[in-house]
Amino acid sequence: MNSINRRSALLAGLGIAGAGALAACATGSGGPVSLGLVSPSGSAVAAVENKRKGTGRTRQVTLTAARAVLDLGAGIKADSWAFNGRTPGKELRLSVGDTLAAELSNQLPDRTTTSIHWHGIALRGDMDGVPAVTQAAVRAGRNFTYRFITDTPGTYFFHPHVGVQLDRGLYAPLIVEDPKEPLSYDDEWVVVLDDWVDGVTGTPDEVFAEVKQGMNMNMGDMSMRFMLMGARSTLLGGDAGDVKYPYHLINGRVPADPDAYTGKPGRRVRLRVINAGSDTAYRVALSGHKMTVTHTDGFPIRHQEVDALLVGMGERYDVLVTLGDGVFPLVALAEGKDMTGMALVRTGSGAAPAPTVRPRELDGMIMSASQLKAADDVRLPSRKTDQVHRIELTGGMTKYDWAINGKRFDMNDPTATPILVEQGQRVRLDFVNTTTMWHPMHLHGHTYQLGSGGARKDTTIVPPKKTVSVFFDADNPGQWMLHCHNAYHGEAGMIGLVAYRA
Ligand code: C2O
Ligand code: CU
Repeated sequence: MNSINRRSALLAGLGIAGAGALAACATGSGGPVSLGLVSPSGSAVAAVENKRKGTGRTRQVTLTAARAVLDLGAGIKADSWAFNGRTPGKELRLSVGDTLAAELSNQLPDRTTTSIHWHGIALRGDMDGVPAVTQAAVRAGRNFTYRFITDTPGTYFFHPHVGVQLDRGLYAPLIVEDPKEPLSYDDEWVVVLDDWVDGVTGTPDEVFAEVKQGMNMNMGDMSMRFMLMGARSTLLGGDAGDVKYPYHLINGRVPADPDAYTGKPGRRVRLRVINAGSDTAYRVALSGHKMTVTHTDGFPIRHQEVDALLVGMGERYDVLVTLGDGVFPLVALAEGKDMTGMALVRTGSGAAPAPTVRPRELDGMIMSASQLKAADDVRLPSRKTDQVHRIELTGGMTKYDWAINGKRFDMNDPTATPILVEQGQRVRLDFVNTTTMWHPMHLHGHTYQLGSGGARKDTTIVPPKKTVSVFFDADNPGQWMLHCHNAYHGEAGMIGLVAYRA
């Protein structure tokens, strides 16, 4: 089947109106079923959704994606795109089992299409927000309502799944609370990290246009504005990132004018740390405090005390801290980039630290998910593996040809080289990183386990020249993206499609 027919077959199977001539020429093709795949809107998807335990309560919101002039603090303004005029967007908070009904209104300029992906949520396939795999892109001036049950508590976030829109201001936390929360704490603080370029030195589209020309092209060209050379990190095993960012933000603020959490000494606070960045891993520490890591990517782990955490793009960590008395910087060191984001914890009097402060905890006991263990109640039951896929991460900076198994993903032909699974299988994915750079690999619709007994995750750092094996149960039928959460690597083609066979 040629690529136009494949794409239109998929869209036709979704019952998508307005796919235009493409859909018309595919009429009668039978949709994804003719490709032997589960349709994201088919009966298998509905059957699983019906089994999700719902409270019957619906939380209704409107998310208007539009141009906004954002105040990053210290007099810095950024002309960007945001949900309802702010970055991060207002957090969405639900109780487990609630239905989210989120109406996306696309008011973006220049006839830009968009979508919303609910990062980390194992939801029904047709609400995953990936054009042209699970829906048609939402056109400018149009609306689309996402409606799904959130059946697993945890820390998530949402962002568009079109181009490099992730690197605009279009993101916000999504917190699913557990009414029977087993952790005890007094308060919580959501901490969103982001590398910022949009409306300051250029747009993400300009960044991508430059970096995709590759290193050699750009080296000969003195007008290299965005490409970053020589970002090195021991923790990340080498090259840390490709893009120069003028700012690193915590909760939308620059370090010179930081966001602050105000509390009382001795109180226990749950920090929910989300890396919404596009090309930056952060090393995060709270000066004068140890952090007890309790969750990653929404799922509980065996508690672990650390001084600092390494957080890749798309990853989340929940930590507990017992607050000291004073003013303490929470610092996110842009790993390998020698810049920081900062926010403050205030429980007493004292002057704010310098915006460039580097707490010594940043060089203390540092952990990432590979050293953590799943909590007993979320460890995958042991069983035999039915299906193994080798996912080679390929490409490099020279040609900027980031890909999976040597093939750049084509959004117009998403089912060209599917990674096939069947409902009910235990699947192992071996991420084999053949490149000289690390990649945060994200799987939609599922939470896999690192090795046997490691943390449950949906996004994992795969260091250069290393192999990381993850396991998941194929229990959420549909068509799911598997990709590098570096926005520029993804856009270049480091994406695969995990496709359920009908
Ligand atoms: Cu935040 Cu496809 O991902
Ligand atoms: Cu990557």
